[in-house]
Amino acid sequence: MAGAEQSQRWSLKAKTVLVTGGTKGIGHAIVEEFAGFGAVIHTCARNEYELNECLSKWQKKGFQVTGSVCDASLRPEREKLMQTVSSMFGGKLDILINNLGAIRSKPTLDYTAEDFSFHISTNLESAYHLSQLAHPLLKASGCGNIIFMSSIAGVVSASVGSIYSATKGLYTNY
Ligand SMILES: NC(=O)c1ccc[n+]([C@@H]2O[C@H](COP(=O)([O-])OP(=O)(O)OC[C@H]3O[C@@H](n4cnc5c(N)ncnc54)[C@H](OP(=O)(O)O)[C@@H]3O)[C@@H](O)[C@H]2O)c1
Repeated sequence: MAGAEQSQRWSLKAKTVLVTGGTKGIGHAIVEEFAGFGAVIHTCARNEYELNECLSKWQKKGFQVTGSVCDASLRPEREKLMQTVSSMFGGKLDILINNLGAIRSKPTLDYTAEDFSFHISTNLESAYHLSQLAHPLLKASGCGNIIFMSSIAGVVSASVGSIYSATKGLYTNY
């Protein structure tokens, strides 16, 4: 398929997208791929320096990407993030990508209570609560979608990440 024809078939022009954890890894790749198809993106990360580096690189590439410093494991910061997204995108959001996640690899018996809270708040609670917060914006868009980043570890057992695995089980019912 010719390039021009392909980009017409696969356009995300002007679609509004929140990609959590877009400064590294899979989230970074998602931002670049979606922005390349014309999406208007907001992303977040905790490290301000790395976020600003990414934003400046994306601006030079002509991508429409903005960002917030946010620790999405914290409820008030998630609320602030969604307020920012709402005001940036006029109360509408087409796609929420719950990408950010983290793992501390340890045998089960070595995990502490703090390790447990860290995984639950970062991987599970953040995705769940951001989805709740995004619901009115997704509904207002008329074509809202939520993408969750799961893992093979949520399906098969891993010897050094039992809490991570629990946070990566597949989401089913709406
Ligand atoms: N990599 C794999 O092999 C793999 C396999 C299966 C599933 N996954 C899943 O894919 C997703 C991305 O994984 P990855 O390996 O690409 O991750 P990564 O390279 O470690 O990048 C994580 C991103 O999320 C941000 N982040 C982490 N904690 C955050 C928090 N509390 N608040 C806001 N931002 C936060 C990080 O920036 P800051 O550090 O600046 O906050 C970074 O931008 C995760 O959900 C992971 O579980 C990954």
